[in-house]
Amino acid sequence: MSRLQAGRRHSVRFSLNGKPCTGEAEPRLLLTDFLRHQLAATGTHVGCEHGVCGACTVSIDGKPARACLTLAVQIDGCELRTVESIAPSPDRLGILQSAFKRNHALQCGFCTAGILMSLDCFLRAHPRPDEESIRDLLCGHLCRCTGYTPIVRAAIEAAAELVDHGKEKTDA
Ligand code: FES
Ligand code: FES
Repeated sequence: MSRLQAGRRHSVRFSLNGKPCTGEAEPRLLLTDFLRHQLAATGTHVGCEHGVCGACTVSIDGKPARACLTLAVQIDGCELRTVESIAPSPDRLGILQSAFKRNHALQCGFCTAGILMSLDCFLRAHPRPDEESIRDLLCGHLCRCTGYTPIVRAAIEAAAELVDHGKEKTDA
């Protein structure tokens, strides 16, 4: 991207959940605010706003990233996926979501969007994870409601189901 000027809005072109998207952002605008306030993509949650809780996790070019530590202008030219991409359609849950529901892996759901996105990225790259690696991944997410055992159980179940389906993505 060419030099950015503070206070000026810059055009940002990227793909959002598989669809081309364009917006305008000042250089200081956070990706969380861009998503939630300009694009109405409110599935991405904002908790600590300084990179600790993981609630704002999205996928940028296939890698999990904290949207609260990312500037909107940084996603120019990137493939961005948010939790809105996880369900195959508005009336159907994805495999990860169904496993979370079955295992009571959420209560208030505040942390869930970020956890789902981290797991989604992780399971695409590691289709047969062991429990330890899932627990390791969850170190980057704070949940105040459930305890982590049901979340780990849901992740293991979803991973097995995805392998059964012969898929390496979590959106079915
Ligand atoms: S809101 Fe981004 S890590 Fe907490
Ligand atoms: S389900 Fe409430 S913070 Fe995790």
